[in-house]
Amino acid sequence: MTLALVPFPRDQTTSLALAAEALRTRLAPGEDIRDWLPPIDSAIRSGRATGGLLSSEGEARGIVLWEPAGPLGVSVRLLYLSPPNADRERYRAAFDLTERAAGPIAFAPGPLFGLSEDEASALMKGIGFAPFGRCEMALSPNVPVALAPVPPGAEVRPVRPADEPLLARLHENAYRNHLDRYLSLEVVDPVRDADRQLREYFAGRWGELLSPGSVAVTLDGRIVAAVVAVRRPAHVLVIDVMTDPTLQGNGFGRVALTGAIHALRERGEPAITLNVTEGNERAARLYAHLGFVRTIGPSKEWYNARRMSVEYPPPPVR
Ligand SMILES: CC(C)(COP(=O)(O)OP(=O)(O)OC[C@H]1O[C@@H](n2cnc3c(N)ncnc32)[C@H](O)[C@@H]1OP(=O)(O)O)[C@@H](O)C(=O)NCCC(=O)NCCS
Repeated sequence: MTLALVPFPRDQTTSLALAAEALRTRLAPGEDIRDWLPPIDSAIRSGRATGGLLSSEGEARGIVLWEPAGPLGVSVRLLYLSPPNADRERYRAAFDLTERAAGPIAFAPGPLFGLSEDEASALMKGIGFAPFGRCEMALSPNVPVALAPVPPGAEVRPVRPADEPLLARLHENAYRNHLDRYLSLEVVDPVRDADRQLREYFAGRWGELLSPGSVAVTLDGRIVAAVVAVRRPAHVLVIDVMTDPTLQGNGFGRVALTGAIHALRERGEPAITLNVTEGNERAARLYAHLGFVRTIGPSKEWYNARRMSVEYPPPPVR
């Protein structure tokens, strides 16, 4: 059976139905379909959605939907074959079709419906992909958080607009070869991409940057650790926690994060969330010790290991 890619507008009704079916099979624990389906639905209805139905012999057997290409390739958001079409060969064919239509795939969704974890793993590893997961964690307002002792010579203060270039360098160093960097990559050059990232934090791309609430830890006048917090509609999102790699494991991250939590609570922002990549033990341990609990995830996804040299965090064993 040969699969072909049929544009969504050719059969919008089936496209909408299969998109909902596909999304349901890949929701992470705690995720709500109502948060994800409306944008997909409206993209398909308006003709903006990139992807199509996976069809053979005039019948829709599945669906693939991707986001426009970033520098590493496209992010496939939905890849689904309905029973009884879901087997390794057809998923493999669906990947080939997608890459022919969209160019290289950077990120792909998991699980692949109808395949066991072992089958999906063998298929994905065979085409050069490695697994990863992400979790959302939240800190409840009534969890007491003590300020951590500040290491000798260090100072804690709110982030200022003039910090932008120094924070960009800290970001660049802290996230080198880190999967999180690739997840938000827009410019291949790491220096320019870190500059862009910090510029966008300050410009409010992800929500108003809160300071007080975002914290810089300095040592001899140099910023060695920082937390960046932004306002989202329902809560505050800690979008970045970073320590200079030469100083990690010395308590600077804890100082920055506890300082940020205190400043946020003082300004009346009790609901704090953040996202963490599975396997980022140092970060996950810090968050759990402070009282953050997992609210969503882990998601199951794949990154193209041929296009990203990820050293950290190590991929989860799956
Ligand atoms: C995550 C990060 C900010 C932590 O900063 P840090 O200054 O290294 O953190 P600390 O020294 O305060 O230690 C924090 C926790 O790491 C744990 N830790 C310290 N050394 C560790 C090690 N060698 N291995 C594993 N965990 C370790 C400790 O348990 C500590 O938690 P605790 O204080 O509750 O016991 C830092 O590692 C970093 O910049 N990483 C790269 C960027 C990143 O991943 N950011 C988080 C994105 S979600």
